[in-house]
Amino acid sequence: MEGKRILVTGAGQGIGRAICLELASKGAKVALADINVENCNETIELMKKVSATVETVAIKCDISKTEDVVAMVQTVAEKLGGIDGAVNNAGILGTLARISEYPEETFTKMMDINIKGTWLCIKEVVKQMEKQGKGDYSIVNISSIAGLLGFAYNASYGAVKHAILGITKAAAAEYGVNGIRVNAVLPGSTETSMLRQFLPAEHQPHLEAQTPLRRICQPVEIAKPVCFLLNGTESSYITGQSLVVDGGLSIV
Ligand SMILES: NC(=O)c1ccc[n+]([C@@H]2O[C@H](COP(=O)([O-])OP(=O)(O)OC[C@H]3O[C@@H](n4cnc5c(N)ncnc54)[C@H](O)[C@@H]3O)[C@@H](O)[C@H]2O)c1
Repeated sequence: MEGKRILVTGAGQGIGRAICLELASKGAKVALADINVENCNETIELMKKVSATVETVAIKCDISKTEDVVAMVQTVAEKLGGIDGAVNNAGILGTLARISEYPEETFTKMMDINIKGTWLCIKEVVKQMEKQGKGDYSIVNISSIAGLLGFAYNASYGAVKHAILGITKAAAAEYGVNGIRVNAVLPGSTETSMLRQFLPAEHQPHLEAQTPLRRICQPVEIAKPVCFLLNGTESSYITGQSLVVDGGLSIV
């Protein structure tokens, strides 16, 4: 990954931050985007502890807004000289409620950020990659095991995470010809602030007992497979795929 120019959305905390730290350790140049840019600057401070010479740029961006996403990609192209890879990680959980009680405005927001936002990021990034000419490019979209299974009390989250797999496959089919691979990573329950919104601490032992590996995931355990899929040397013939990283939960 030495010198590769990678854009990570949702880079301010959680899984996005872990991906940035892993990229720093591999010598990549990283553009960090988040609605909360102060948190991106904190991530950059942590990255400098991993690699004092790491090249970074922090960008404030709401991925659901076209003008923000267009400006974000333009900034990355200007500051890093182009884009070799992108991780579409930013997302929100929404509310936990049965469909009959779920607020319509939250459902709309879920679609806007998680589906339209991811689609907009892919749209602008592939345009930039096409401009750069045929190459060795990779896009990784963060879905969830909620994109594979049915979980009660958050149909909108399940819907958006399933949709990300559909967009991933379509983008892989369309842009393979440009040397752009597009894959999805599907994390299981991972230790971030989002986890605490859907898993009360007292329910964690039950979830861990159901999981073959008997524990929840650490963010770095998502970051490493993401870097594998970004790396054109290691995953050169993999595109349109869904990599489940859930400690085996979805197979039992
Ligand atoms: N934590 C888990 O258990 C888990 C499991 C499966 C999938 N995921 C997915 O992984 C991704 C990262 O989750 P996390 O656990 O690190 O969550 P998190 O809430 O800790 O971090 C999400 C980041 O996205 C940013 N963000 C939110 N809305 C945004 C927007 N409109 N524009 C730009 N940035 C925005 C937030 O500011 C935050 O920094 C999400 O897509 C999530 O759905 C998480």
